[in-house]
Amino acid sequence: MQQGEARFASECAVCHSAKADGPTMMGPNLHGLYGRTSGSLAGFSYSQAMKTRAVEWQMDSLQQFIAQPQAFVPGTYMPYVGLASADDRHAVACFLGAQK
Ligand code: HEC
Repeated sequence: MQQGEARFASECAVCHSAKADGPTMMGPNLHGLYGRTSGSLAGFSYSQAMKTRAVEWQMDSLQQFIAQPQAFVPGTYMPYVGLASADDRHAVACFLGAQK
């Protein structure tokens, strides 16, 4: 398993699917994430914070978010403290870019 896939599996997959038509879990589906505006997936009940942040998800914004979710989107419902290693953040961001 590649590093990004492995980190996604250990850090994110408990709450997110990245598969096409994957289930909504505690978090929204992340398939085809890049280019999507934060808080915009129909049918998911986002925090007001995520919707009003209105950031476009890309490699950079995603890495900033998962470094410190509460700093990047103050008030987010995502109960995740952050991924400490920049290398791991980059690997996860690359993995998600390939899920489209
Ligand atoms: C314990 C559950 C949990 C974990 C672990 C988790 N998330 Fe989340 N995630 C959520 C929830 C809940 C939301 C919705 C947040 C909101 O509305 O404020 C969310 C939102 C997001 C969003 C915004 C999506 C959108 O449609 O705007 C992204 C991107 C994201 N998470 C990526 C990740 C990544 C990458 C990881 C692993 C490094 C991760 N999450 C780990 C629960 C989780």
